[in-house]
Amino acid sequence: MPGFAPFQPGAGHGPAQVSLRPAAPGDVEAVQEIQRRAGRPAHPDAYRRAVENPDRCVLVAQCPSQAGDPIIVGWAQTYHHTAVVDAAPTGHYLGGVTVDPSWRRQGVALALTAARVQWVADRADEVFYVVNPRNLASIELHRRWYFEEVMRSSRLTGIEFSGGVGILMRASLAEQVPRR
Ligand SMILES: CC(C)(COP(=O)(O)OP(=O)(O)OC[C@H]1O[C@@H](n2cnc3c(N)ncnc32)[C@H](O)[C@@H]1OP(=O)(O)O)[C@@H](O)C(=O)NCCC(=O)NCCS
Repeated sequence: MPGFAPFQPGAGHGPAQVSLRPAAPGDVEAVQEIQRRAGRPAHPDAYRRAVENPDRCVLVAQCPSQAGDPIIVGWAQTYHHTAVVDAAPTGHYLGGVTVDPSWRRQGVALALTAARVQWVADRADEVFYVVNPRNLASIELHRRWYFEEVMRSSRLTGIEFSGGVGILMRASLAEQVPRR
């Protein structure tokens, strides 16, 4: 699969000591390196624009290295979809989360997603994401926020899906308590 983690239910290692902070322009290189290590495409110019955009939440996750220094082990962003270009509605979308393969299953994506969902909840009463149906690890990760499938389409928010179809997911943020 193109950069998707293998679906391995129940393979978690327990939580790492994760801290989150807003991404800065100086983090773009580290973000690119995570994309490379994860076998996923990188868009450094778009990342530079995103970190400067107050209408987006772009976060990096840090964990202590063996020497104790903080290192960036994952990152994630949101985007505010405001212009309708296909069947996907306008709104705030969780726009991608990637964790360094050697730091997976330690709660890094969980922390990045909880923080982004809270950021959106402070601004809207619903949140969306789009996903390839083959990316079962991602779908499982987001389940805690009660996302429900809205529709399937070959193009959502302008994104064309490898394999031909993507899923639009939506969660209501009204009085939501995430599943543990
Ligand atoms: C999906 C991804 C972000 C998960 O990152 P992670 O830090 O390993 O995830 P977490 O440790 O926070 O996992 C939280 C929960 O999500 C689910 N989950 C995460 N990865 C999973 C996997 N490979 N298989 C099954 N369930 C998974 C589990 O319920 C997990 O809890 P558990 O470990 O207690 O079982 C990571 O595998 C990744 O970077 N994949 C490539 C990029 C990608 O596909 N991003 C999503 C695009 S929409």
